[in-house]
Amino acid sequence: MKYSRITGTGSYLPEKVLTNHDLEKIVDTSDRWIVERTGIRKRHVAADDQTTCDLAEYAARRAMQAAGVSAGDIDLVIVATTTPDQVFPSTACLLQQRLDIHGCCAFDIQAVCTGFVYAMGIADKFIRTGSARCALVVGAETLSRIVDWSDRSTCVLFGDGAGAVVLQASDEPGILSSHLHADGSYESLLRVPVGVSQGYDRLKEEGAYIEMKGNEVFKMAVNTLGRIVDETLEANGLEKGDVDWLIPHQANIRIINATAKKLKMPTDRVVITVAEHGNTSAASVPLALDTAVRDRRIRRGELLLMEAFGGGFTWGSVLLRY
Ligand code: ACO
Repeated sequence: MKYSRITGTGSYLPEKVLTNHDLEKIVDTSDRWIVERTGIRKRHVAADDQTTCDLAEYAARRAMQAAGVSAGDIDLVIVATTTPDQVFPSTACLLQQRLDIHGCCAFDIQAVCTGFVYAMGIADKFIRTGSARCALVVGAETLSRIVDWSDRSTCVLFGDGAGAVVLQASDEPGILSSHLHADGSYESLLRVPVGVSQGYDRLKEEGAYIEMKGNEVFKMAVNTLGRIVDETLEANGLEKGDVDWLIPHQANIRIINATAKKLKMPTDRVVITVAEHGNTSAASVPLALDTAVRDRRIRRGELLLMEAFGGGFTWGSVLLRY
């Protein structure tokens, strides 16, 4: 078996919805500003008793059902998240327990908004080397828990959700290539500057909220995603226009449009869901993928390019034949 291939997709958005008009009552903002600058109209927020693992479980069960696999078939579980339920065990181990999967390798990966793309690249390598045959790859976040709801420059952007795929060994392509990068020197532009090792007391006193220099992140995202698109096409000997669908990280409609323009892709070949759920970090790419698979826009045999950019900075892409 030479390739890893997506055999099922699933996603989940929590029931509670916060519209731009709801946010107008919380911070000094307007529906018009948010739509013009970001394309976002609403975001979903997890209930107080709902965790990242709860969201991941819904998405995972849907992906497994779509793939026609059961718990006993899964031999690798990867959860991409920045907002794990607990310090440990990993959310992947918690999810494994929920799904009644036992004994296989399970771990979280943390690459913020690029998390799902990283997880796909890793799962593909497990499958290509014969270390796994059936991977459950999930991106799940409760970002609402690390958003400062009094900071209008960030709170309007983020939301909660989960998306998942089942990736199986196959003679047919499959993931064709993955391209994963990071540059930690940009830490100060986008971060949550407290954590476990820096002390629980600081965490309690100062809270743990997203800080972002939005404008600088925006410029870096546009330039970096343009480069990753070129890198992916070149590695596969493809021309602009060969890709059937762009499935971008859903952070901002203006960033998505800039990448689509670079690829010379018409908007109707770009899966855009940012209006419906905002930036759900690691969940955003699989949420968009599942949406377009379920509404039958994406067909078997088509060429898909997934890309993402996030805190770290991290960035990456996955090119695959669906
Ligand atoms: N409502 C109204 N006004 C606002 C709001 C708001 N919600 N937020 C900021 N403003 C104001 C600012 O205070 C500023 O006012 P001033 O000119 O009086 O100082 C003005 O709007 C313009 O602010 P900018 O930051 O220059 O606005 P910009 O056009 O850059 O849009 C945005 C801001 C939407 C954050 C954009 O920069 C962006 O999308 N950045 C990238 C975010 C991103 O992609 N992150 C991806 C990674 S996320 C991750 O990894 C977790």
